[in-house]
Amino acid sequence: MPKKTVTITDNNTGKSIEVDILQGSQGPPVIDIGTVYKELGMFTFDPGFVNTAACESAITFIDGEKGVLQYRGYPIEQLAEHSNFLEVCYLLYYGDLPTRKQQKEFDSIITRHSIIHEGLHDFYSGFRRDAHPMAITCGVMGALSSFYHDSLDIWDERSREITAHRLIAKLPTIAAGAYRYSKGEPFAYPKNSLDYASNFLHMMNSFPSEEYQVNEIAAKALDLLFLLHADHEQNASTSTVRLAGSSQANPYACISAGVGTLWGPAHGGANEAVIKMLKEIGDPSRTKEFVNRAKDPSSNFRLMGFGHRVYKNYDPRAKIIRKMSKKVLDELKVDDPLFEIAMKLEEIALKDEYFIEKKLYPNVDFYSGIILRAIGIPTTMFTVIFTIGRTIGWVSQWQEMVTDKSHRIGRPRQVYIGKRKRKYIPVAKRTKN
Ligand code: ACO
Repeated sequence: MPKKTVTITDNNTGKSIEVDILQGSQGPPVIDIGTVYKELGMFTFDPGFVNTAACESAITFIDGEKGVLQYRGYPIEQLAEHSNFLEVCYLLYYGDLPTRKQQKEFDSIITRHSIIHEGLHDFYSGFRRDAHPMAITCGVMGALSSFYHDSLDIWDERSREITAHRLIAKLPTIAAGAYRYSKGEPFAYPKNSLDYASNFLHMMNSFPSEEYQVNEIAAKALDLLFLLHADHEQNASTSTVRLAGSSQANPYACISAGVGTLWGPAHGGANEAVIKMLKEIGDPSRTKEFVNRAKDPSSNFRLMGFGHRVYKNYDPRAKIIRKMSKKVLDELKVDDPLFEIAMKLEEIALKDEYFIEKKLYPNVDFYSGIILRAIGIPTTMFTVIFTIGRTIGWVSQWQEMVTDKSHRIGRPRQVYIGKRKRKYIPVAKRTKN
């Protein structure tokens, strides 16, 4: 196929250059601006990377206009229906679905890596009791970087694999520990007889003094939530992990940077913010008032769980979670008034001209909190649950970057708008600053 190009002309000098148009296996064409600075002496400007592809990736594909999400080519709807979280972890990291034997081995490895080093327990006591579990998770995750010196050669395939296994396996233990610490409750060790999601519920809720029975409906719902959050290509936290990793930094430190980024309410912290907002609304009759507030240009208020940088259509994960919310509430016989408020809010917003024009639809965070509440997860743990699911995405993207021969240290440019060069004035001579 002949190479496609586009011509960029500097209208001030008349100089034109031809740059390549790249085409991935799916998605829109991408202009390769790699030679623009060299040839024209200009940078490109794209705050928030709205138009800029920062890497090649074969992991996750999104078509935001059509509301499509695929992991390694498999539609999210099919994975949600037929797969489970650990199978999806295997798929994301290794690239293909496992055979039965590979899956059995992988499950066993993850199960057997779930205990954390005893020394790591000491880190928790340094945090204030009322610390947010995301703060603790971020800190303890960073601390992992000081524990595993045996597998820190990022250029070695086996070392990277061990790191991935440790991260996936230990995150639930670290996260449950963050919660138990904040409650002043004893930490529960993982139980190898339990599956991934059940084990997390066990570590969150069990006491040494009595038997704890994991609720199967809750475990199934949680596993699906982990699966739906597993990867989402170059979002803010994943791009952070890639940027941190591009300096060849310690992988646990890179993932910890991702945890910190995910925490923000414009990103993964939105699931907690949605519940706060629904509680504040308090009654379906007040939803219109809040929709109006979100439209008011003089207010900073936004409908949390609405809108997405990439999806200009219904987020396919939100569709699955909405359906699942109803099922979980029915199965667990939970009557959550916030679900009714959420549905009313969605109904009004989707008919509103402002939301239609700006293509603002519910995102993954809008209904996930309803399920998490129903299965007994406290609000402060919502973003931590997202973190557990997303860790496989981060580590898969990190591994892809490290093995990409063309990767270089990430180093954005800027449009400098500060003071021009000026002369230093000794303090005695300064009359104003
Ligand atoms: N409520 C009201 N108005 C909104 C909302 C919202 N939730 N989201 C976007 N808008 C409006 C903005 O005010 C802006 O209007 P303008 O063009 O008149 O200035 C326009 O829609 C575009 O919004 P941007 O902020 O420019 O879009 P961006 O792609 O940068 O941001 C984001 C996307 C951060 C998700 C945004 O929609 C938002 O803040 N949503 C609420 C928080 C949220 O739910 N975050 C979770 C996202 S999913 C995830 O990260 C896992």
